[in-house]
Amino acid sequence: MKSLNDIARLRNEYEDRKHRLAGSDVYSLFNRANLFIVQQRQRGVLTTLKKNGFTSLSNLLILEMGCGGGGVLTEYLGFGASPENLMGVDLLLDRLLHAHHLLPGSGFANADGQSLPYLSRTFDLVLQYTAISSILDPEIRRNICADMLRVLKPGGMILSYDFWLNPANPQTHGIRPAEIKRLFPNCQYEFHRITLAPPIARKLATVSWGLCLFLENLKIFNTHYLVTIRP
Ligand SMILES: C[S@@+](CC[C@H](N)C(=O)[O-])C[C@H]1O[C@@H](n2cnc3c(N)ncnc32)[C@H](O)[C@@H]1O
Repeated sequence: MKSLNDIARLRNEYEDRKHRLAGSDVYSLFNRANLFIVQQRQRGVLTTLKKNGFTSLSNLLILEMGCGGGGVLTEYLGFGASPENLMGVDLLLDRLLHAHHLLPGSGFANADGQSLPYLSRTFDLVLQYTAISSILDPEIRRNICADMLRVLKPGGMILSYDFWLNPANPQTHGIRPAEIKRLFPNCQYEFHRITLAPPIARKLATVSWGLCLFLENLKIFNTHYLVTIRP
């Protein structure tokens, strides 16, 4: 299994990002652009979960591959998931320690998503939010997605939220619908193009929330896909 170069690059990139973003409010909910992006994503996720019959999360086992500092899993707690049913995997220990601090009753594993430390057919929902796009090596992306499918229960669903375009960040690889279909073959998919391009949201969210909503509804300026994947 290939892992070394891209994983070393990833570790350096996140170390570097910590310094670049020190003191920045770009990911704070007090930043109106970020608040807009997060709230719109949550609306999209809740609508999609409901459409797929996932309206009560309390008894579902949920895994996030590439959970980082636990922000997304914390959102699922707000959606009704039980803390003891939430699991997160990440390569980076310092991010996992933060996740554990936020969700002390949940399970975290410091592991490579290419070989998830769980039995096959364990989870009702397997999530990936902007983790696959942080991986430049196509073989690693393939291995991770195959393992996400392996740990999914029959009748379960994978939810992927990732951007298809991010010209500003060469350390990432946009994930388009055709690639989702290659990474998760023989599945049923629903693609929703969401998230007003962050540079536009940053310019407009303090001026007009309504204009941001209008532009996001047009979809042409949206940078991400929320995708449901069902084998
Ligand atoms: C952009 S962050 C997203 C974190 C989180 N999902 C969120 O949206 O807040 C991507 C995360 O994926 C993790 N990651 C990348 N490659 C991974 C791999 N092979 N195995 C496990 N985690 C990985 C990174 O360490 C990083 O924490």
